[in-house]
Amino acid sequence: MNKDPSRLRSFSHGGRLFWLPALLRVPLQRSLEGHALPVGQLQKLLMDNSFWGRARRLAGLLRCLRGSDVIVSTWDRDDLVAVGRATTDGIYRAVLWDVVVRRDWQGRGAGRAVVNRLLAAPAVRCAERVYAMTTHGKGFYQRLGFHEEGKQHLMLFRKGD
Ligand SMILES: CC(C)(COP(=O)(O)OP(=O)(O)OC[C@H]1O[C@@H](n2cnc3c(N)ncnc32)[C@H](O)[C@@H]1OP(=O)(O)O)[C@@H](O)C(=O)NCCC(=O)NCCS
Repeated sequence: MNKDPSRLRSFSHGGRLFWLPALLRVPLQRSLEGHALPVGQLQKLLMDNSFWGRARRLAGLLRCLRGSDVIVSTWDRDDLVAVGRATTDGIYRAVLWDVVVRRDWQGRGAGRAVVNRLLAAPAVRCAERVYAMTTHGKGFYQRLGFHEEGKQHLMLFRKGD
């Protein structure tokens, strides 16, 4: 199968449209944002290609998209091959989440394109600092200009602990 990265098309989505029911959202996303992001395809991408997002349910993902300020999706025709999202206050802090590339497209620049598009989104670009938390992607983020922050600690408060 042809894995030429020039086949890929990336789109940005605003979380607000995800408040709408699919019947309205999908056509509106297509007209305003260029492409709709069906939550079922997102669920499958996370299930097959991440360890942290495998158990996410459709309703939870819909809520997660509504709560995201910037969402980027990358498509090979109608197949979702990469995603990433960001939350941001628009001035001080932004955080990248769930950057995932489908396994057969990894190593071809799709991850870089998703992150660069997230960083270029106005609400992220205006933030003083952009954070990314990663288990296996440290080298990837370093290639994209992030540095490991040795002075800060990652603190976690987990519901149920
Ligand atoms: C990590 C991930 C997003 C990278 O996406 P990708 O499309 O394969 O990466 P790209 O092809 O855009 O790579 C960009 C650069 O990072 C490097 N790179 C990619 N993954 C890397 C890794 N795990 N370690 C070190 N370098 C890496 C590439 O070699 C490339 O370097 P270059 O500047 O020399 O060309 C992808 O492998 C993935 O989805 N992994 C599973 C989910 C995951 O672990 N996500 C972590 C982020 S939360």
